[in-house]
Amino acid sequence: MKQILGIVGSARRLGNSEIMVKAIFRHIDQPCELLLLRLTDFQIESCRGCYQCLFKDGQCVIHDDHQLVLDAIAAADALILAAPTYFLGVHSCLKRFLDRGLTVYGSVDRLWGKPAVGVTIAGIPGMEGNALLGIDSFLKLMLTDVRQTQIVYGALPGEIFLNDKNIGIAKSLADSLFGPAVAKPGPCCPLCGGDTFRFLGGDQVRCMVCSNTGTIGTDHGSLVMDIRPTDHQLFLTRDDVSNHRDWLIGMKDRFKTMRDRLKPITLDYRKVGRWIKPPDKTSAPESEKE
Ligand SMILES: Cc1cc2nc3c(=O)[nH]c(=O)nc-3n(C[C@H](O)[C@H](O)[C@H](O)COP(=O)(O)O)c2cc1C
Repeated sequence: MKQILGIVGSARRLGNSEIMVKAIFRHIDQPCELLLLRLTDFQIESCRGCYQCLFKDGQCVIHDDHQLVLDAIAAADALILAAPTYFLGVHSCLKRFLDRGLTVYGSVDRLWGKPAVGVTIAGIPGMEGNALLGIDSFLKLMLTDVRQTQIVYGALPGEIFLNDKNIGIAKSLADSLFGPAVAKPGPCCPLCGGDTFRFLGGDQVRCMVCSNTGTIGTDHGSLVMDIRPTDHQLFLTRDDVSNHRDWLIGMKDRFKTMRDRLKPITLDYRKVGRWIKPPDKTSAPESEKE
């Protein structure tokens, strides 16, 4: 029997994200087991940016719950993700987890290509900001095969299912998890399916999910994106993953060769400003002392 991991990115018990995950699961028409993981229950510290995990098979120097969550994702056959929109973006628990994402390079074989669907719940129609991008990025950077992602509106716990349309969305997400993928309705990135773009001037656009760049134009009155692969695309193939990993690893040697030029630049800023510290960290690290 397939094991599905439902990731709930909200602390609200029986809130809209939780019931959406469960509703999608209920509509799956094959025997499956649902394991649930509320991301806010797990202690996940901020990434320290030390890059050590790249050189240690994905093992992070911070010993918290991050590995446990990554292992749960790796062990699943498929993912259902739902998280609320908070202040025009997806709930920060997703980003906090994602920031530790250099660890995925140690688990590519375990992670690559799992079918996944995702939803963000926004309280006010039109006020979802960039939350769907947060859902798309999370699933993409967990190296899943993103089958469909959606925005659903509803503020009060349970309110999403006062609207029958959202029951239909839950069913459609369930169908696409192990069936045909469903593209977003508007113009999408032809490479990754993302629908969030940065307009770079003229007809130039960049996809905010896969980071590829191209042009926007019209064809018989419809918007058309012509997006071409670049060196650092995230992540259309497994080769993209290993290329990016190798590039990151190569940065160590680049740093060594450039250290003498870089150090005077940073040291020049050492004594600028006075740090405000939290109460338990009153003594400044040596590097910041006058
Ligand atoms: C701190 C906070 C910020 C929010 N920001 C937004 C927002 O920017 N846009 C929006 O449409 N809804 C916003 N909401 C509403 C939630 O997205 C909405 O209530 C959602 O159903 C919550 O999902 P949950 O029940 O899974 O927690 C916010 C809610 C909270 C608590």
